Amino acid sequence: MNIIIVYFTLFVISSVVNGEKCDGIYLNNKFHRKEVLSKNIDRPYQLSYDKHRHRVYFSYNIGKEEEDRFNIAYIEKGNTEHKVKDNIENGFAIAIDNTNDKIYFGGSLGIYEELIKKENETKKIIEGFNVWDMFIKEKLHFINYPQQRLYKCEHEETGVKAVRQKHIHEKIYQYAIDGHGNSYITNRTGLYMIKNGTSDRIFIKGINNFRCIEVNNDGVVHFCGQHGIYVINKEDYTLEKIAEIRNIFGLTFDHDNNFIYSNPHEIVKVLAGDCK
Ligand SMILES: *[C@@H]1O[C@H](CO)[C@@H](O)[C@H](O)[C@H]1NC(C)=O
Ligand SMILES: *[C@@H]1O[C@H](CO)[C@@H](O)[C@H](O)[C@H]1NC(C)=O
Ligand SMILES: *[C@@H]1O[C@H](CO)[C@@H](O)[C@H](O)[C@H]1NC(C)=O
Repeated sequence: MNIIIVYFTLFVISSVVNGEKCDGIYLNNKFHRKEVLSKNIDRPYQLSYDKHRHRVYFSYNIGKEEEDRFNIAYIEKGNTEHKVKDNIENGFAIAIDNTNDKIYFGGSLGIYEELIKKENETKKIIEGFNVWDMFIKEKLHFINYPQQRLYKCEHEETGVKAVRQKHIHEKIYQYAIDGHGNSYITNRTGLYMIKNGTSDRIFIKGINNFRCIEVNNDGVVHFCGQHGIYVINKEDYTLEKIAEIRNIFGLTFDHDNNFIYSNPHEIVKVLAGDCK
């Protein structure tokens, strides 16, 4: 009897040490612990990481029930309370240009630009577009709503011009370009890859509802489905699930390429290894 109890105790301790008992997820088949950065936020979406000030920006729902109204906010390192960016009308989309130290905020009335060094001096640069999603690859790209067309922003002497990208003829939900110059679009049918220098649409098999597309610091594109994070297997153009996360809403990567994701009420950082 005593032997059995001792045995059992040892088993429990060792599984705690192995991380089985601590709150975490498997990412690429390796255990990772979860660090909750903030909670009690209503559907945090469109996560974006400011590598200079170590802030996670996001938009979240402020409408009641079916009404869709949004605000943009951020959380700072070491502080779980979020701060609201209150000068953006119905702010929904965020893109951070960590190379040029600029942040773009998209809302129902256009796009606003802010220099990281001049916080709160937000300047409106694009007027008359309801902005649904934004993406930076050298230049700022955005998708408008409800038309779902892709535009690229050209900075000219007279101001910033939104130029329709006609080579993407589809109505799209999301857009991204990876480190090899391949583009990715999603629409109601699913996900397509357009290889650098071609115009063929390669259908990527797996799932066809996406909540986000995010490129990590190594230029690898990641996709959020409803319950997990996926990457593309380029041998057979299928999606491979690298993490199972119930009801994932958004994804971004910090300066060390750690995953930061959101679910309907919290923002979580994922760190390699066991709980301390
Ligand atoms: C910008 O505004 C926010 C919210 O009003 C405030 O907390 C922050 O200190 C301001 N930053 C600067 C640099 O003035
Ligand atoms: C895209 O392909 C061209 C050649 O077709 C190449 O010069 C360029 O570097 C590629 N872009 C990226 C980002 O790799
Ligand atoms: C999505 O785009 C693909 C590739 O262009 C196209 O074949 C498909 O019909 C589109 N789906 C919808 C619903 O428009």
